[in-house]
Amino acid sequence: MRLMHCYNTHQFRKLAKKRLPGPIFHYIDGGADDEITLQRNTIAFDRCDLVPNTLTGVDSVDMSTVVAGQKLNLPLFLSPTALQRLFHFEGEMAVAKAAEKFGTLFGLSSLGTTSIEAIGTLVNTPKMFQLYVHKDQGLTRHMIDQCKAADIDVLVLTVDVAVGGNRERDIETGFTSPLRLTPKSFLSFVRHPKWTFNYLTKAPFELPQLKDYLDEGNKVALTISDYFTHMLDQTMDWQSAETIANYWDKPFVIKGIMSCEDAKRAVKLGASAIMVSNHGGRQLDGSRSPFDQLAEIVDAVGDDIDVICDGGIRRGTHVLKALSIGAKACSGGRWYLYALAAGGQAGVERAIQNMQDEIERGMKLMGVKSINELNRGNLRFR
Ligand code: LAC
Repeated sequence: MRLMHCYNTHQFRKLAKKRLPGPIFHYIDGGADDEITLQRNTIAFDRCDLVPNTLTGVDSVDMSTVVAGQKLNLPLFLSPTALQRLFHFEGEMAVAKAAEKFGTLFGLSSLGTTSIEAIGTLVNTPKMFQLYVHKDQGLTRHMIDQCKAADIDVLVLTVDVAVGGNRERDIETGFTSPLRLTPKSFLSFVRHPKWTFNYLTKAPFELPQLKDYLDEGNKVALTISDYFTHMLDQTMDWQSAETIANYWDKPFVIKGIMSCEDAKRAVKLGASAIMVSNHGGRQLDGSRSPFDQLAEIVDAVGDDIDVICDGGIRRGTHVLKALSIGAKACSGGRWYLYALAAGGQAGVERAIQNMQDEIERGMKLMGVKSINELNRGNLRFR
């Protein structure tokens, strides 16, 4: 199987599984506990059907949207995700360039493997930086200052990480950052010589956002779950979120909102957007899927703030369903990470192209020329 055979997210996933050492693939692919929420995030889209209109003259369609003040050519963007250079040596550079090519938003993580500064100068597309608030307040301030200096457009605060989720696949495979060789994982690296060669010969792995402040993640190997539990600030509350938003003073987004109460608090705080998200099913297993929870949240705050449906997206029609409920855009991680692992920048470009084609085809078959025409009238729940 090669990149040219990948026509959809499922096939990118298969190729990623082939190309990556087991512990790394399972870090991307896995979720918390029994992975019920991970599965539910995608299955949720199947409980609802699209009802198309016809003969509407759809020779050209407009897929663009505006979220958090950013104009995107596509109602789907690339959520910030950690450790990208482990998945392919081109890492965030590849993902950001692919996002730029399609005019959509690129998210860089606090646990990214490319610096804020490098991303700032690399691409012109809208950029968001995802903030993990660490116990070390100097580090948090440093990251925000770096974003200001690099002209990052949007700061997104992730709020579903008070502690790490129970990711049993990582415990089983021994996956840590930085990687630690265990007798168990050794074989999986030997079996993937191309990946191992790139890992050993390209720029050394590091987490540039953290490296002047913390050894953990750079030198001391931890599971990502332990990292969250030990390094992030568990005292975080709405007051701290407001202090950060005020210090940032540009478009501010909160990621990991699931309840209407929290959505309303985000409006009160002056956030530009919320990402309805359960962290890709990697934190609280048994939590509701973003798509299932979307209508409630759109009804509560949709007139006051941009609502983004984050997670579970595997097809263009999933995006159409979320937009019909009232989301301004969708976002996700795995859908492009599988493609990054499968083929670097070319892989991510192919994944975005596929999604763009699926969204455009879906809109034409739905009889809509602009995403604003999608509404709940064109959905039926079973
Ligand atoms: C995750 C983080 C780092 O593994 O966002 O879910």
